[in-house]
Amino acid sequence: DWTMEDYCKTAIAAVREQVGDGKVLLGLSGGVDSSVAAALLAEAVGNQLTCVFVDHGLMRKNEGDEVEAAFKKWDINFVRADAEQRFLDKLAGVTEPEKKRKIIGAEFIRVFEEESSKVGQVDFLVQGTIYPDVIESGKGDAAVIKSHHNVGGLPDDVQFQIIEPLRMLFKDEVRQLGRELGLPEYLVMRQPFPGPGLAIRIIGEITKEKADILRDADAIFREEIANAGLQYSINQYFAVLTNMRSVGVMGDARTYDYTLALRGVTTTDFMTADWARIPYEVLDKASSRIVNEVAGINRIVYDITSKPPATIEWE
Ligand code: XMP
Repeated sequence: DWTMEDYCKTAIAAVREQVGDGKVLLGLSGGVDSSVAAALLAEAVGNQLTCVFVDHGLMRKNEGDEVEAAFKKWDINFVRADAEQRFLDKLAGVTEPEKKRKIIGAEFIRVFEEESSKVGQVDFLVQGTIYPDVIESGKGDAAVIKSHHNVGGLPDDVQFQIIEPLRMLFKDEVRQLGRELGLPEYLVMRQPFPGPGLAIRIIGEITKEKADILRDADAIFREEIANAGLQYSINQYFAVLTNMRSVGVMGDARTYDYTLALRGVTTTDFMTADWARIPYEVLDKASSRIVNEVAGINRIVYDITSKPPATIEWE
């Protein structure tokens, strides 16, 4: 009988065998795949592993701390590059979505390379490629790098070997392996989060103030979805800070604050998606909490468009 416990032991042994006493580098995004790959390598080779986690300051509330905390139990070299100010500076005044993506992608690689160059000679680079990525790429061999995602490209003069410990696994199996390795449920069951992060959920110019407003509002929405027990039935759900302000009233005073949009979708492949029929009571609770608890927002709307013609993200 095949169990994930057996698979896990075998995978750890195989990685140990392959790596020997070599040095291993891994770019950790905090997503499910890179986190599980990191946990496997941490278990297999311990302090021969360096994880570089680039925190671009556009993560969700507490996300950076949660990712860091999850890896505390292993004796690895965990590098967290707090690069918020660098990214904010580069993004100042930029409003065009694709330009935001390009800037973030380029800066991400720059920070990653700066941090990894401090590690010295590296023998292996870990990629969190999973089986569906292998099929999708149509290559089925060597390094498959998801250019769509946050990893970007590798230098041309690749002097290390690629390790892809998850390339035989489907997503559900990756999650199961993560549990087996002792990763917390919030990492293992995490919903997809785009590489550019909140940058593409802040319509128009990005500022630290807007990012903080969005983080607080998004955290409340996610909390209410979880309170309603809907966190696993809605495949992706988040808040978007629109660039629109409108008139409201608070006590005796007139306000002129941002409109926040809530988005929730059900989907199997993220290529098409239906807007999630979130119960009115849940939307109501989230809405009244957000306008009461988050300064700067006085109106909430719920996005009821499916994909196509809308996309899941707003940018
Ligand atoms: P859309 O908005 O295109 O999103 O319907 C489909 C899925 O892809 C994610 N997404 C991204 N992921 N970098 C990423 O790593 C990106 O630039 C990006 N844009 C969209 C989105 O969150 C959804 O899961």
